[in-house]
Amino acid sequence: MALTFDTLAEVALARDLLRRWWGLELGLAEANGDGADRTSNVTAQTIMKLSPDYAGSMREAAALASAAKTAIVHRDHAGLTIVACTVRGGDGKPTGLVYSSGGRYQVDAATLAHSITAITGITTEAAAMAAAVPALDDLAIARITDLVTAAARACERAQPAIIPPTTWTHPFTEIVGDAPAVREVVKLLTKVVKSEATVLIHGESGTGKELIARAIHYHGPRAKKPFVVQNCSAFNDNLLESALFGHQRGSFTGAVKDQKGLFETADGGTFFLDEIGDMSAALQVKLLRVLQEGTFMPVGGTKPVRVDVRIVAASHKDLQTMVQHKQFREDLFYRVNVLKITVPQLRERVSDIPRLVGHFLKKHTPNGTPPRLSAGALARLMAYPWPGNIRELENEIERMLVLAAGATELTASMVSTRVAGAAISAPRPLRDVVDVAEADAITAALGRQVGDRDAAAAELGVSPGYLEARRGALGLRSE
Ligand SMILES: Nc1ncnc2c1ncn2[C@@H]1O[C@H](COP(=O)(O)OP(=O)(O)OP(=O)(O)O)[C@@H](O)[C@H]1O
Ligand SMILES: [Mg+2]
Repeated sequence: MALTFDTLAEVALARDLLRRWWGLELGLAEANGDGADRTSNVTAQTIMKLSPDYAGSMREAAALASAAKTAIVHRDHAGLTIVACTVRGGDGKPTGLVYSSGGRYQVDAATLAHSITAITGITTEAAAMAAAVPALDDLAIARITDLVTAAARACERAQPAIIPPTTWTHPFTEIVGDAPAVREVVKLLTKVVKSEATVLIHGESGTGKELIARAIHYHGPRAKKPFVVQNCSAFNDNLLESALFGHQRGSFTGAVKDQKGLFETADGGTFFLDEIGDMSAALQVKLLRVLQEGTFMPVGGTKPVRVDVRIVAASHKDLQTMVQHKQFREDLFYRVNVLKITVPQLRERVSDIPRLVGHFLKKHTPNGTPPRLSAGALARLMAYPWPGNIRELENEIERMLVLAAGATELTASMVSTRVAGAAISAPRPLRDVVDVAEADAITAALGRQVGDRDAAAAELGVSPGYLEARRGALGLRSE
């Protein structure tokens, strides 16, 4: 398993707590238990070195752990405790083992001394060695199990995410996605590109309306002719009219020469009218004429101009509702709404997020290999509701790539706080946070008072009885 503990804050925390509270070590091994090299104390190390059976015990623990969801507790051949938890990859297969070994659980020191002698042949020091092994009670075991499980889960999140391959092929390769709603869109597109009918694309901002409009043009018979885009909400009415239809010299102040409009530029090709719902009533009339007769009048012009343009319109507003509220002409609505494509929001197609992320990683790493994404980072991206849809996701990936500055892996910590906030605010036991802080305070006070319980309790402002109870509950009591 290509992970190091030092890069993982959550694992480092678990390791520190194990050391501080019970004098135990956290280890990392192969999924089958091989390669285990960390044990908690001299006794366990001695047994491990002198006895090949230690490897057998680790393999047994690994086999037990791979069948369990959380950490398992196993007694090794010498009587020492192994707490182990399997780390799984995105496909659910074990990729490694996190363990803590070397404590003494439900075995008394004399029995342990016997087995040390039996295994290692050491007789004189066996009793002293056994006594030096930390004894663990049920509460300690429960907490160690929690910590080892938490460490294994953190390792899982740090593994590279698996991006499922698309099994579905279609000619619109620029449109990434496999979700049912996307398949619907693509199915519709294959029909739309063959026809000349006007298309209305409806979808929230950033869902890919323009991408679809381009696909309609570039996969259809007009592909070699111009594709012209105009956003109808970007201009004031006069400017928009002159941009769309052109103007004759002198028709208004500043019109110093004849100016061709975008409808003429688009002749023979496709005109993408973005945010058509923002068009004024006056311009709606002019547009209706183009759609009905194929002609329009330039600003200040006297004779109509004829064009052959396919119209693709888009709106994030619902035009039907606008018609009901008299904000959009009904006759124009029926002309525009011949073929309607509804683009799904990203949160309706969460299953496509891994694929889209993979696509954007490649798109924004033009030279060389794109970095991998960790499972934890992907989990955060998938937990966020993406109000800005695919555009927002693409921006997030670009931002992460800048932060990564050429690193081979994008980790959860590189996800912006706005996006990660959605995942971080997911339920997290407050008890853990409070316990860690409390254990710190108690350990520090006992240290300052050199183990004098009453003095430590006075310093902490609690009764000695309460301090003892908390030490017990937090697993801070030594034998
Ligand atoms: N299915 C998809 N596969 C790959 N890239 C996509 C997909 N959908 C959208 N994108 C990308 O996301 C970005 C936003 O898409 P686009 O501009 O088409 O959305 P829009 O609906 O027109 O947004 P806006 O409402 O903000 O104008 C673009 O870079 C586009 O290439
Ligand atoms: Mg757009």
